[in-house]
Amino acid sequence: MAANKPQTASAAPAAGFTLPMLYRLFFLIIEPIATLAGAYYAFFGQRTYLDLTHAVSAPSPIPLGTSIAMSQLANLYFAFALSEALVLRSTSDLRVWKTVLFCLLVADFGHLYTVSVLGPQIYWSVPAWNAIDWGNIGFVYVGASMRIAFLTGFTGFQVNSASTWLEFHKNEFQPKPFGDYDVDVQIECCGVCGSDVHTLNGGWGEQKFPLAVGHEIVGKAIRVGPKVTLIKEGQRVGVGAQSYSCLDCRQCKNDNETYCRKQLDTYGAVWPDTGVVSQGGYSSHVRTHEHWVFPIPEGLPSTVAAPMLCAGLTAYSPLVRNGCGPGKKVGIVGLGGIGHMGVLFAKALGAEVWAISRSHAKEEDARKMGADGFLATSDKDWNAEHVMTFDLIVNTANSFEGFDLDAYLSLLDVHAKWVSVGLPEDEDGIRIRNQTFLANGCFFGSSHLGSRRETLEMLQLAADKGIKTWVEEVPISKDNLPEVMQKLLHNKVKYRFCLTNYQDQFGA
Ligand SMILES: NC(=O)c1ccc[n+]([C@@H]2O[C@H](COP(=O)([O-])OP(=O)(O)OC[C@H]3O[C@@H](n4cnc5c(N)ncnc54)[C@H](OP(=O)(O)O)[C@@H]3O)[C@@H](O)[C@H]2O)c1
Ligand SMILES: [Zn+2]
Ligand SMILES: [Zn+2]
Repeated sequence: MAANKPQTASAAPAAGFTLPMLYRLFFLIIEPIATLAGAYYAFFGQRTYLDLTHAVSAPSPIPLGTSIAMSQLANLYFAFALSEALVLRSTSDLRVWKTVLFCLLVADFGHLYTVSVLGPQIYWSVPAWNAIDWGNIGFVYVGASMRIAFLTGFTGFQVNSASTWLEFHKNEFQPKPFGDYDVDVQIECCGVCGSDVHTLNGGWGEQKFPLAVGHEIVGKAIRVGPKVTLIKEGQRVGVGAQSYSCLDCRQCKNDNETYCRKQLDTYGAVWPDTGVVSQGGYSSHVRTHEHWVFPIPEGLPSTVAAPMLCAGLTAYSPLVRNGCGPGKKVGIVGLGGIGHMGVLFAKALGAEVWAISRSHAKEEDARKMGADGFLATSDKDWNAEHVMTFDLIVNTANSFEGFDLDAYLSLLDVHAKWVSVGLPEDEDGIRIRNQTFLANGCFFGSSHLGSRRETLEMLQLAADKGIKTWVEEVPISKDNLPEVMQKLLHNKVKYRFCLTNYQDQFGA
């Protein structure tokens, strides 16, 4: 395991391109100083410049309008050069760099025009201005080109803020530097998780915007790092909600890497050392350490497999860790994306499965998924007949509205377990008293995703038993994404959206 330890950019030189320290120094220190000095001369040297360009001694005076226009262009260039230096660390929007390059080109056509009309002596006649100008241009050209070369290729549908969470912008972005154990995946499809909504709409608090969400990814491994052994180039693979952990601590060594204190999410996490914010699967590509890239068994169609990578695993892990199997009575609260996977997997593992939903609306579907029984909490005395009969209940509800915890817990047999995976937005959570657990001495816990081992087992089980996720496929686009988000928010999906047709948006 230690051999696979993830390495960040500073721990090991990335196999791909990284920005050299010298270059960063120039951009962050020297260039801003040079730019400010340039702006100073542009302002105070204006008089001399104009005098010179219109001097009788000039070989061929150019019109005043052109001269001012050129000054403006130069100023534009200074402004962009400065903002470039300022945003270097923070921006992930390739358009900034392309604009810088474009402005430079326009400004330099102005410079060339000056030279062609006035002759090159114009440049050494106002030495202070031009020394700065020419020196700076080299840097910015090289810098902007390097940034563009570095960034090109990864594009995603990003949201800019929680207040505009239904507006998706197609932006190019900067992935983390390519490491020795990394795999670049060209995305084919991606499921839409309840967490995507909580993250974008501000329900989970502050986020790192601009952000592309999505962590139920299936695609093709198009590039593998030199030390990758678990994945082959060209393989069909999946990536879920986790993308990093230390792989060295007690938890990581016990197949509990999802509980590692250094674990990072597939989207919205800041990569150590680089400051790059991870971007999810509403994108052309994702770059992930091989430990969190999973080969998809042949029998599983991509859109069936994608929702398993978060929803499926989130249901599967607590089931297998808590004894779901033949002879056990298992309840699944909430028949959404995770809940329906819970019913499918609990059934495949051989348990007696009961879906526990708020109304009877999903009863027929639940039975088609394999549920042996169905409870609707809107019915009077809905729990009465089943008090103290369940061995395990997995709760996937994503809201506490009208949530009568005592009524659910009363279903559990002595010392049986309640495992909550739902992560409601309510800041106050839910109030629990010791007395609540007294009647049956039940255990109350939670569960986060699952391990690599569990992911591989789950995918194999799904392939062997022909488990089919219930998916509604939607082509990914700026227009479809807001509708998908709204429908998921209002519980109008059967039972997982999966974004498809990536090639139409991002090319082959
Ligand atoms: N622990 C983890 O590792 C992990 C991983 C991924 C996601 N999550 C979280 O798990 C939750 C569910 O995600 P999802 O993608 O399955 O969402 P989803 O598709 O929206 O499903 C949530 C389901 O919860 C039920 N529900 C909603 N409000 C309820 C309430 N007030 N009382 C009782 N039941 C309620 C509904 O089922 P019925 O209509 O049948 O009642 C709904 O379909 C989210 O909070 C998500 O962030 C956790
Ligand atoms: Zn998820
Ligand atoms: Zn760890």
